[in-house]
Order: sequence, then C-alpha cells, then structure tokens
Amino acid sequence: MRAKEEKMKSSITVNKKFVIGEIDKRIYGSFIEHLGRAVYGGIYEPGHETADDMGFRKDVLDLINKLDVPAVRYPGGNFVSGYHWEDGVGDKAKRPKKMELAWEVIETNEVGIDEFQEWAKRANTDVVMAVNLGTRGPEDARNLVEYCNSETDTYYANMRRANGFEKPFGIKTWCLGNEMDGPWQIGYKTAEDYGKIACETAKLMRLVDPDIELVACGSSSYDMPTFGEWELKVLDQAYDQVDYISLHQYYGNPTNETKDYIGKAEHMDAFIKSVAALCDAVKAKKHSKKTVNLSFDEWNVWFHSNNAEIEKWSVAPPQLEDVYNFEDALLVGSMLMTLQNNCDRVKIACLAQLVNVIAPIMTKTGGGAWVQTIFYPFMYASTQGRGETLRAIVNCDCYQSTEKDDIPYLASSVVHNPEKKEIVVFAMNRSLEEEMELSLTFDGFEGCKACEHVELYCDDLKAVNTEEQQPVVPVNVEVSDTVANEHGVVLKKHSWNMIKFTY
Ligand code: AHR
Repeated sequence: MRAKEEKMKSSITVNKKFVIGEIDKRIYGSFIEHLGRAVYGGIYEPGHETADDMGFRKDVLDLINKLDVPAVRYPGGNFVSGYHWEDGVGDKAKRPKKMELAWEVIETNEVGIDEFQEWAKRANTDVVMAVNLGTRGPEDARNLVEYCNSETDTYYANMRRANGFEKPFGIKTWCLGNEMDGPWQIGYKTAEDYGKIACETAKLMRLVDPDIELVACGSSSYDMPTFGEWELKVLDQAYDQVDYISLHQYYGNPTNETKDYIGKAEHMDAFIKSVAALCDAVKAKKHSKKTVNLSFDEWNVWFHSNNAEIEKWSVAPPQLEDVYNFEDALLVGSMLMTLQNNCDRVKIACLAQLVNVIAPIMTKTGGGAWVQTIFYPFMYASTQGRGETLRAIVNCDCYQSTEKDDIPYLASSVVHNPEKKEIVVFAMNRSLEEEMELSLTFDGFEGCKACEHVELYCDDLKAVNTEEQQPVVPVNVEVSDTVANEHGVVLKKHSWNMIKFTY
C-alpha cells in the first residue's frame, strides 16, 4: 500500500542488447481515400492561393512534410471496391463523372493515379496502392500494375507513356482489396471466395512485376464475428502468394468512459498478437519457411462524426470530419507506442486518414489549414521514433477497465537510434488523477544523459484545436539534473511525453 502523500511509482529498464526489432519506417504511414474532402479541398484545390502547378495545396503539403509520412495508402478504403482506375488517368476533360456507391457521392475523377503519384513525390512519400477486388478482379489489377510499373512496349505501359509519364511509377506495395470481410463492402466476400481471388490476383500481378509486395485483407476489426476464421481460411489459400495481412481498428469514446478509452491500446496490442499467432499457425501447418507479417493499414479514433448527415450525390461533401480532443491524442499517442513495441511483426501501418477525413490535418476549402490534437504525438513518433525498439521491463500499477483487469497506468516504448546515439522514451501516464514518478535504467549505454523532454498535456481532456485556437500543443519541459543524470522523471496526470537521451 502506498502512503497518501507518496507519488505513484513506475520504472522502465532496457538493455542495449535486448532488441524487439528494427522499426520499418512505414509504420508511420497514412492514408488518403477518395472520400469527403480528403482529396478535393484537402490535398487538391486548384483555385487555392497556395496551389502549385498541379493544383496541390502547398500549405497542406508543408504540414504533411512535418509529419514525415513515408507511405500513403490510396485510393481507398471502401471507395476502391467500386473504382475503375482507368477513369482517373489521361486527359482530365475526358474523365467521366461517376456515382460513387461506397460513400454515395459523385466522383469527378479529376485526381487519379497520374496525379496522386506526383503528389506523393511532393509529399516525400511512397504510394501504397489498393486494387479493386469488390466489383473487379485479377485482370484489372494486373493491368494497373502494368500501367504503373512496367517498362514493356505494351498496351497499358504505353497508355501511361501517352499520358505523359515515360518512367514507371515504381509502386512497390499493393493491397489486395479492402475490408472484404465486411458486409458493407461493395463486393463483400466469404473467406473462401476472397482467399481464392486474392491468390489468383496476386499471381497475375506478380507475373507483371515480380518485385511487388502484396497485402491480403485480414479482418476489418478485432471484433468482427468472423475474426480468426477469416485469417486462417484466407491464409490457408494465399499464404505463399502474400507478404502481409491487414488489420484495421478504430476506437471511440461515445459513452464517455475515459479510463477505458485511453487504455484501448492494450486491445490493439492483443489484436496484433492474435493476428501474428494466426499467421504463424498457418506457417506451422504448411511447414513454411516464410513469415507473413502485418500491415495495420487503417487505425485511428473515429466516432465524433458518426451522426453527421451528407447531401447524397454531391461532390466532395464534408464526411467523417472528426474534431479530435486531447484524450483522443492520448489514445493515438499510446497506439503509436503499441505499433513500435510490435515492430518485429508490424511492418506497415497507416493512420487513417491524413487530411480532413478522420485526420490530423484539417483545411477550410478556400481557406487555411491547421492541425488537430492527434497531429502532435504522430509527428514526434514519426520523426523521433526511428531505429530499433528495445525490449523494456516495465513496472507500474494497473487499473481495471470494463473490458480488462490489468491496464498499466504507464504506456511506454523505448526506441534506440544507434546512428544518432539517441534513446527516445515515449511515455504516457494513464492516471486521470495522479502524477507518476518514472525511473529509467539504461543498461549498456554508458554516459547516457537526458537532453529533451516534450510534454503534451491539457487539464481539459475534451479540449480541441481549431483554426482559431490551439489549446493542445506540446511544450518543452526543462530537463532537470535529476532527469539528466539519475533518469528520474515526473509524468503529469493524463500526459503524453517524449524524453530523449544521448550517450
Ligand atoms: O477510413 C474510413 C473507412 O473505414 C474506409 O473506407 C474503410 O476501409 C473503413 O471501414
């Protein structure tokens, strides 16, 4: 029992040699779907005062570059399951306007893969391309690979050349459809049907370009009734053809149970470990030498905008425009720690999404751009969390949530960057009432000293950032001698922290 005046105590011990794995930078990926104002009025707005020669908003690009996002999934999401990629290439004047059935809007096709891969260069990112396995199949997918990646003197590669792109786009990572287990999906399939089509599509795509990597659809959340069975059945058919299986998960706090809510990264951790186990079960059954890894290619908070109505069959209406508060940023910050701590299996992850649609970056059409609360933990994780994750021994008190008995008050990850000789500790105190003393031990890092402490804290858990006001911003905390030399740091109640050490 702790005396009343005593602070809550916690500790983290790491050893230089005990490494979970190398972080694949693509875990800091994101997602742009043809949905709402993500593309039109988000990344693309030709009339905007900051628009570049292709109509891309430079103010948005500047903010995206601050996040240093190495991969962006495109063009959907649910959208891709009814998409004809040919509608979005070539002469813009000839591109058809279509009824877009996934989100019940009009798609003008002003932006397609021609433009998006140009935008990706300007955003310093790689495209992760999804193919339509809802209403289409292997033939259209292989055509798209040829259009994007082939140097042959053949129909689709020549179509790309005729559209002004001599050099192939060189898209390496491809998703075999989207959420095919979901009854809401256009062209939804059983695991058996999907496994078969994923397998055949993969075969054709790889015949066109043997160097591509392929992601099979896993469950669209841990809570799907088909979870587990789906992964086993799909991988049973497609194990040899695919490199990754996808995971999707969104969280929300509609009942205002904040203690439960900010512990949800534990649920994400269990989801990841379960999918890794399912992959390995199939590997064992097949006596395979190959390991299928995980692509967590949709994750975020999504619930604030659930009841918003849209005008059907309009062009780029506001959709899924969640306004994030401080507690959402805490959860997002801890989900990033979970991804880092599972970097031995999660090689790709996409914050869904990037601009306007459940996004860290918001714009006003014809106006400014600003950042939401969730922007900050993502920016620090992506820019500072590069290297290898260390296997930490963590001691702290736990609390009970409605779903789980043992949610640790301390959420954390420790990333070592050997080139920079830096250790970056990400730490979040989940207590809503109490400060926490955290003591850090770094074995094998002689002369290690703290040099930076960034804290994200707001007394009001429901505070939101808008274009006019930014009450939730990170601050630099002075690095005291205690932190620098003895590595003891105090974490405010419900705060997210990044503490950097050099050696
Ligand atoms: O990101 C929004 C939507 O969430 C995506 O279109 C879909 O894949 C998921 O259900």
